Amino acid sequence: MCGIVGIVGREEVAERLLDGLRRLEYRGYDSAGIATDHGGRIERRRASGKLVNLARELAADPLPGCTGIAHTRWATHGGPTTNNAHPHATDEVAVVHNGIIENFKALRDELIGRGRVFTSETDTEVVAHLVSEKVEAGFDPVGAVREVLPRLHGAFALAILFRKHPDMLIGARLGSPLVVGYGEGETYLGSDALALGPLTQRIAYLDEGDWVVCTEEGAQVYDRDNKPVERAVTISGVTGELVSKGNHRHYMLKEIYEQPIVVAQTLRSYLQRMEERVTLPIPEFDLSAIKRVTIVACGTSFYAGMVAKYWFEQFARVPVDLDVASEFRYRAPVMEPGGLMIVISQSGETADTLAALRHAKAEGQTIAAVVNVPTSSMAREADLLLPTHAGPEIGVASTKAFTCQLAVLAALAANLAHAKGLFKDGEERQIVRHLGEAPAALNAALAYDESIQEMAGAVAGARDVLYLGRGTDYPLALEGALKLKEISYIHAEGYAAGEMKHGPIALIDENVPVIVIAPSGPLFEKTVSNMQEVQARGGKVILISDYDGIQAAGEGCIATITMPKVHPLIAPLVYAVPVQLLAYHVAVAKGTDVDQPRNLAKSVTVE
Ligand code: G6P
Repeated sequence: MCGIVGIVGREEVAERLLDGLRRLEYRGYDSAGIATDHGGRIERRRASGKLVNLARELAADPLPGCTGIAHTRWATHGGPTTNNAHPHATDEVAVVHNGIIENFKALRDELIGRGRVFTSETDTEVVAHLVSEKVEAGFDPVGAVREVLPRLHGAFALAILFRKHPDMLIGARLGSPLVVGYGEGETYLGSDALALGPLTQRIAYLDEGDWVVCTEEGAQVYDRDNKPVERAVTISGVTGELVSKGNHRHYMLKEIYEQPIVVAQTLRSYLQRMEERVTLPIPEFDLSAIKRVTIVACGTSFYAGMVAKYWFEQFARVPVDLDVASEFRYRAPVMEPGGLMIVISQSGETADTLAALRHAKAEGQTIAAVVNVPTSSMAREADLLLPTHAGPEIGVASTKAFTCQLAVLAALAANLAHAKGLFKDGEERQIVRHLGEAPAALNAALAYDESIQEMAGAVAGARDVLYLGRGTDYPLALEGALKLKEISYIHAEGYAAGEMKHGPIALIDENVPVIVIAPSGPLFEKTVSNMQEVQARGGKVILISDYDGIQAAGEGCIATITMPKVHPLIAPLVYAVPVQLLAYHVAVAKGTDVDQPRNLAKSVTVE
């Protein structure tokens, strides 16, 4: 799972390829590399670690050439070393790859048997050798690629450079995304439109199984049966500007602070404030016949889905199945006719979620996609696109995308209830009012940033941390634990507060901070009882609640975080803020790389 960019043109490419990689770093940042075709030779520069290392390498040893390919890597096969960094090359070709060649072992053995020498542990290198063999046997680039593609099993987006053809690049995709960009006297390949933002806005999305021959003049696309095809050229709307951190130290902090604005922006498409009605961006879409909802997502988006399950059941009275995408795909999920599948994804490209979408679509489900990137695969393949308007999210740990997802899902649950005629007098009006209060409440929650920063020390020294919550605060407990793990590398677990006594309570001692998320409300007393069970065993509790909750139960806690008092509907959005800020300040205290934590990537495009 990685980022790819390629340019075939008439001007130097190295710097522009590097800029494209900067836009793709969200796909991985273990190592990076560039290859160009220059003076009858393929030349490469590669470096392990973050992109800045490759930039240094290029500054010390510039790479000339007007045709080139580049790659930023998230290691799957072989560690994040320079040798394993892409492009992989022979004397004849260089290849960059996103995805996994599942049959690479068999292909590698076969190639070694024919005397080919491998220099990396990657699956990708087999592609370089297979294409190279064909070229050495006299095939032209088009013929060579046509011969090799059917031999590759798994998922791939490829860009291939040929020593003897500096006027050409060949790309191919199956399972992993690849776009073609059209410029003036130049043609581009990229993992997404974002990568090509400064180069062109004229983008064609390749279909599954497509491959493409790019030259200065343009591109010829072939489908999986090798028939020449046309793919529509769209205007991406992606600008060349890189998103800046503003005055903030990290993207993550900037994104946490953007939440009041982006949630308001998102809600504008789902609420009619004047009429006090919920609405959908596609008003003609009839939800009244939906009998069952299946929610599938990964990571933080999954926890948004978990909160939504409570809302769909409460408001729309429909049964909800919920699964992480990587499990859903390999069960034999029973989907009734007339069902709605909701996929939730910031990137719209997460491989497991995309595969689940395709599976459910083939089974006749209606697909709604809650996505933040409107040009993404999920956005394009869904029946009902429900955009979040969070803007680009750069920090690997998702923050503002999560609260925007919650806003959309709450509105969708209310839309479903409306379509089914389930609202009693004034209920819909109340929901619109409460959701409308979310941006101001998020703002009020941000005011506690400094006090959260002050107490981060109480967590930063811990080896293990537990998060507890009930009802919609349970997914928040899971999200809190995920945030802390991701960016501070502290082991953390989230539990349903009532489950503590069935095992995790054995972990409690004075070294394990327990963070309890408990807004005052119907479940407060129950959660507080569980909290007291922890305190009775010497556990150190940090209570996140509102003023009333802290007054009632704050005594005996090692710290408290006071949130504004809000309606339970918007509590998950508001309580996301302290959970995010706590993880952020702990990570800063520990000195980790907040925006690009080790081993992670923003968009996971492999299974
Ligand atoms: C990665 C990211 C997470 C994200 C998850 C799902 O693991 O690091 O922050 O929640 O993918 O991504 P998606 O784009 O589908 O929401």
